[in-house]
Amino acid sequence: MRKRDYIIKGFSKLLKEEKLKIVAELMDNQVETIELLKSFWHPDRRKQKIFDEFSENTLSNFYIPYGVAPNVRVNGTSYLVPMVIEESSVVAAASSSAKWWLDHGGFHSVVNDVVKIGQVHFSWKGDKKKLEKVWDDLTSEMRKATASITANMEKRGGGILDFELIDMTSKIDNYYQIKVSFNTVDSMGANFINSCLEEFGEVLKKFVKENPLFTGGEKELTVIMAILSNYTPDCSVKTWVECDVEELDGLDDQLSGKQFAEKFETAVKIAEVDIFRATTHNKGIFNGIDAVAIATGNDFRAIEAAGHTYASKDGRYKSLSHVEIKDGKFKFWLELPLAVGTVGGLTSLHPLAKHSLEMLGNPSAKELMMIASAVGLANNFAAVRSLVTKGIQKGHMKMHLMNILNHYNATEEEKQKAIEYFKDKKVSFAEVSKFIKELREG
Ligand code: MEV
Repeated sequence: MRKRDYIIKGFSKLLKEEKLKIVAELMDNQVETIELLKSFWHPDRRKQKIFDEFSENTLSNFYIPYGVAPNVRVNGTSYLVPMVIEESSVVAAASSSAKWWLDHGGFHSVVNDVVKIGQVHFSWKGDKKKLEKVWDDLTSEMRKATASITANMEKRGGGILDFELIDMTSKIDNYYQIKVSFNTVDSMGANFINSCLEEFGEVLKKFVKENPLFTGGEKELTVIMAILSNYTPDCSVKTWVECDVEELDGLDDQLSGKQFAEKFETAVKIAEVDIFRATTHNKGIFNGIDAVAIATGNDFRAIEAAGHTYASKDGRYKSLSHVEIKDGKFKFWLELPLAVGTVGGLTSLHPLAKHSLEMLGNPSAKELMMIASAVGLANNFAAVRSLVTKGIQKGHMKMHLMNILNHYNATEEEKQKAIEYFKDKKVSFAEVSKFIKELREG
């Protein structure tokens, strides 16, 4: 029986082998656990060490396929886009959409802006007007105090852009914010922003304490927290595809280009008015964006969080992509915040993230925003195209066939036979099980 009532003290300080042993003991299958986890260690100890040091208590590596979507043409440049994702049909869907749009003008993209936001949240019982009066002095103190942190960023063309005092006392008693905007150029910039913000908090406390304008209780100010915001509506990108409606003629054998465009438009409009559909619709967009974010060492949780908040910006969660059919033209676009980096952080530490960026031609952060959003739009197009024509399961289950066969430890020969057999048949777990059983029973 696996133990459930244990307390482990000082686990993080143990050696990796010792941690493995404890975990294996608690799982009651020591040998198998240790062997399994060790079998996924990198044979090159130096490489494994890099992974061990990314995080605490690393026991092994968790493999996810690293694939590539070729033919992603954005603003006239073709990219080989690396994608890290476990879902069988995502790379295939992105690739087939990218290929189709390659012959119809490719993807077009513009970065709206690259402004990032951080906040110092504080509690204060003082007179706001006094703070406004000395605002320029305070913010210049803040700039001075962070000069050593910002010097390099400024050399690269970025740095602190602006400070804004926000009165939130109508929501929470005595609560204010200093909202700071930054340009972090090609880096994601999280550490840079957070280091600046923590320093601003210190300057703020000292400033009200020492400035003679503030008296009595006004000298006491509590910094609640200082942290970047992952909501980056002003670090956003717009990406679109467009073609004549007639060009959509061959996309389905049952529908004309016009019928396809109209059905597609209705499907997207449903995602604009219904949150249940919108969530799945946007998930399909993030299938592509997350895969590119992971492959390039970017923080996909931050990107998703920003995207879903943006999808709710009008007061109700809705689709991030939209369609317009006008004057015989079909236009499909996606607009969303996409804070990515191409220098610093994991982008240079993870050997494969570095390789991904090389594969993309070492893009700037702006270029990567355009590429990742193009892949998101490609996946969205593929999903909605399937949904309004043959349905999603046919293609999805075809791709999933390998997973089911692997579940049955199928041999190469059995796999080939199964692929041949299911070429023109519906794949389901039950059907594949039956096929394998019958094959093995001769
Ligand atoms: C599956 O990962 C994603 C889809 O459900 C997206 C969609 O429904 O639009 C196919």
